[in-house]
Amino acid sequence: MTTNTHARTDVVSVLQPSGTGRIEATDLTLAYGKKTIVDDLSFLPPQGQLTVLAGPNGCGKSTLLRGLARLIPHQSGQVILNDTPIDGRNSKSIARELAVLPQSPIVPAGLTVGELVSRGRYPYRGVLRPWSSEDDAAVTEAIVDTDLTDLADRRIDSLSGGQRQRAWIAMVLAQRTGVLLLDEPTTYLDITYQIEVLDLLKRLVERRGTTIVVVLHELSLAARYAQHLVLMRDGHIYCQGPAHEALTHDSVRNVFDLEAQIITDPVSTTPLVIPIRPLRHHNTSSVEGGNHHGA
Ligand SMILES: Nc1ncnc2c1ncn2[C@@H]1O[C@H](COP(=O)(O)OP(=O)(O)OP(=O)(O)O)[C@@H](O)[C@H]1O
Ligand SMILES: [Mg+2]
Repeated sequence: MTTNTHARTDVVSVLQPSGTGRIEATDLTLAYGKKTIVDDLSFLPPQGQLTVLAGPNGCGKSTLLRGLARLIPHQSGQVILNDTPIDGRNSKSIARELAVLPQSPIVPAGLTVGELVSRGRYPYRGVLRPWSSEDDAAVTEAIVDTDLTDLADRRIDSLSGGQRQRAWIAMVLAQRTGVLLLDEPTTYLDITYQIEVLDLLKRLVERRGTTIVVVLHELSLAARYAQHLVLMRDGHIYCQGPAHEALTHDSVRNVFDLEAQIITDPVSTTPLVIPIRPLRHHNTSSVEGGNHHGA
């Protein structure tokens, strides 16, 4: 039997992230057409820390990340990125300071992993700034850190869901920004890669001082990795703080409509959510074969 060990680079490198990693939303209102989703929300992710955003499906997590990254316009309020409002700034200058991995990114046809990751360097390119050894170093390091070396020449559309997800993560890592927003980056990943990705984010925070906001659904992993945990409901922040303060029986009940017991994770000593029963009232008659009693 042979085992394959991959040499990982340390995420500390000569390439420092751009910007100071400060992002703040004030009184932000985001809408699709006339439908307001995020309403008058203020949000300051702690600089150089890992913030986890959690909340039920449809509560506005992805919309908030899109608003922070200016992927959608805001109705009112503002987002300040490294002391400058993002309104009116050109996209490349924002992309040097803030990277965002959307929930369902669209795969450009025919691209290889290496080519996709290289796109992370786009914000640094220009007529007077051709491809450099620094770009090469950022791409190589991102590929190694996401364990994609053996897949670098493979086409993205030929990869498994989890391999593809890692390629997207590598692309935003190559962007080398001080602010990193990731929308459910662990979806599709097996449990080991989930932990590896979260460990990688933790190292980015510890060693590069990156400010990270990551959307996660798995509450116990959220609690384990979050330095700051934000629970959202109906377009508002319901509560935020260290996981042991934010994740309680009452907050889980009120945010997720879930009766749960919170115990202490024996490994990390962070809160561990044991689900007991949902409190939402759905029409389940079709599942139960109808509620016909011949009346
Ligand atoms: N492009 C869009 N046009 C219109 N409505 C949208 C659009 N994108 C999202 N919505 C609506 O906005 C609300 C919030 O969606 P959002 O994607 O922000 O939720 P989420 O918290 O990320 O949920 P999930 O956990 O399912 O990813 C939902 O009601 C959704 O249907
Ligand atoms: Mg979402």
